[in-house]
Amino acid sequence: MKILLVNGPNLKRLGTREPSVYGTDTLDQIVGRAVRHAAARQVLLDAVQSDDEAGIVRALGAAHGAYDGIIINPAAYTHTSVAIRDAIAASGLPVVEVHLSNTHAREAFRHTSLTAPVCVGQIMGFGAAGYTLAVDALLSVLNAKSE
Ligand code: DQA
Repeated sequence: MKILLVNGPNLKRLGTREPSVYGTDTLDQIVGRAVRHAAARQVLLDAVQSDDEAGIVRALGAAHGAYDGIIINPAAYTHTSVAIRDAIAASGLPVVEVHLSNTHAREAFRHTSLTAPVCVGQIMGFGAAGYTLAVDALLSVLNAKSE
């Protein structure tokens, strides 16, 4: 089984970016933990990060046939990007949306996710732990499909 993890804009600055909101773990640490968590379950996890909408659309577009499912933190594009929403829907794969912060407890413009309606589910508000929770959530969906 293969999972693609996609991280959106500004997430490579985790560790020093607004630590009171996003914690102090770097993206490398978070991704490393997700890779090991997946590997312990015999699952291969590849990770990409892009600050740019087109880069995320391209990664999602290349996932069909190459991966069984996707985990995505679209970051700020969550709230604005019809293109990423359409790319998630077009992937034909189960997609889990993850956010470090609880966006519903933040500014009003973060309360809407354009991407969540085309995902199987959303995990938010648990900080970096959300990424390993997202691996488990996606695997439960994939395992249920293969039963
Ligand atoms: C975020 C929440 C978004 O609103 C924000 O733009 C981010 C990070 C999160 O993981 O909490 O960049 O996706």
